[in-house]
Parts: sequence; structure tokens; C-alpha cells
Amino acid sequence: MKDVVVLGGSSGEHLAVRIAELLGSELGEIEVKQFPDGETYIRILADVSGKRVVYVNSLQRGPNSLIVETLYTLDALKDLGAREVYAVIPYMAYARQDERFNPGEAVSIFSLAKLFRALSIDGIYTVDMHLHRITDPTKLFGAKFHNLTGVRELGKYVKSNYSLDNAVVIGPDEEAEQWAKIMAEELGGLEYSVLEKKRISAEEVVIEARGIGVSGKNVVLVDDIISTGGTVVESVKALRKLGAREIIVACVHPLLVGRAYPRLLRLGLKDLIGTDTVLSPISKVSVAPAIVEALRKTLA
Ligand code: R5P
Repeated sequence: MKDVVVLGGSSGEHLAVRIAELLGSELGEIEVKQFPDGETYIRILADVSGKRVVYVNSLQRGPNSLIVETLYTLDALKDLGAREVYAVIPYMAYARQDERFNPGEAVSIFSLAKLFRALSIDGIYTVDMHLHRITDPTKLFGAKFHNLTGVRELGKYVKSNYSLDNAVVIGPDEEAEQWAKIMAEELGGLEYSVLEKKRISAEEVVIEARGIGVSGKNVVLVDDIISTGGTVVESVKALRKLGAREIIVACVHPLLVGRAYPRLLRLGLKDLIGTDTVLSPISKVSVAPAIVEALRKTLA
């Protein structure tokens, strides 16, 4: 695609390369470094004047400095004369803090959206963002907002690698029903249902499985994020208590913080799969095709 330059931030280069390849567009470069005092230095090395620019950066582990990098870069792109600027944020940080759950809390996603809004960019593409309490993200972020899904790509991977006899799709909580539904569709119309989750703290959850029929069945457990791994560990325990057989776990954003990965390896899962919105040892599926399909509609 001519007159389009794709650029990757320090957490988005791997996807920028694939997106540029699939779009058939120029892949530009950005220099990003930290000054000794921790300030961020950014220099756009590509000529973006008069061009349409797709900038990719995932606001994943250690999101605060990535947010600064992303906002400064987007602002610089406009300032350097880019004709249109599109932000691809495969993992949008702070999306889970979308309400004042306790008195006095900052509603962080609103503050982050306000910063994006000030940039007046032309579009934002993200993947399976928590939009449970946000009804109009385009208004909130001040740019045409595309919330894509990586679950279809995960489903294609599961379908082509496993025979799914006697299988059912499960989400760990009510909010995961949307992902369980998509996964079940991709797997040829399997049945799906959800467990019940109560969050005790950032690290601790309690899972209940009332009325879930998994006895003697193979299970595909699907969620948007694996962070500490607590949700998956407790869900797998609950499913096994109910007599589930083999379990495949699939998630879009494998944050895998702290000891999450070794904890999950101990579960004896049939497979553990994530996408490359966040690079991790389980990023076996790329969301690049889904992002490019959506970008093409805008850039065509
Ligand atoms: C929560 O609402 C999300 O959908 C995930 O279930 C959650 O972020 C997973 O976190 P953890 O792996 O720390 O249990």
C-alpha cells in the first residue's frame, strides 16, 4: 500500500514488521532511548511528511513508560506533518480500571483516554479491550475506535491442531462469555458456558462452577488476559473437580507476570496458547492478520 508508513514502538516492533509485510507498505524506524534520569527520547527516522502513518505499540508489562513513549511519538508524527495517524495498541493498559470501585480511586482508563483525545489522531485499533463499562470508546478516545478480537485467530489455531471430539468451551467468568461464544463458533458451534469468579485481591480469585456440564468432556478454556495466572489455575482446578478431561487454555493477552508461566506449566494442560499482542513464551498465534484486515478497510 503506497503512501503508508508502518512504525513500531519499543513494544510493537514485532507486530509492525508483520503488519507492514501484510499491507505491502514501507516499514520505518524510530529511535527510542532513555536518558540517564529516566526521561524518554524519541526520534522518528522515517520521512512521514504527507504520509499516512500506522504506529504500533503495545502498552503491556511496565505500561507507564510505554504510555509516555506512545503519546510523545503520536504527537511528534502529527507535528512532523503526517497526513493521517493511526495508533495500533494491541494491548490497551488500564482498561480494567474503568470504574471507581472504591472511594477516591482514579478511573485510570478515562485519564488515559483524555490524553489520547488531546492528540486528535485519526483512528485507534486495539484487540479485545475490556469495554465492559465503556459504551462509546470513539467519543472517549476522540478517534474512530476499533476493538478487534484475537479469539478468532486462537480458534483457528485450536481447530487446526486438535480434534475436538466431545469438547466444550468455557470462560472463567461472566465477562468472558463474549470470548467463549466466539471461540465456540470458530470451533464449529460447540456448546459454551461460564464459571463464576470472585476477585479477592489482584493475585487471588475464587472460582465456582455451578451447573456446568464438563464431566468426561474435553475443555477449551478461554479468557482475554492471563496476568498472574490465578484465574486459570483456579478455573482448571474447578473444572477437574467436575470431571473435565483434557484442557486447552487460550488467551489473547499473555501478560504472564511474575511466576505465572511456571505456575501454568505445572497444570499439565494439553496446550497453553496466547497471541502476540504481548510477546511471551506462549505467543503461538499472531493478531497481525486481524489488524491488517481492519486497517485495509480504512486505508483502501
Ligand atoms: C479479568 O477481568 C480478566 O478477564 C482476566 O480474567 C484477568 O485479568 C486474569 O488475571 P489473573 O491471571 O491475574 O487472574
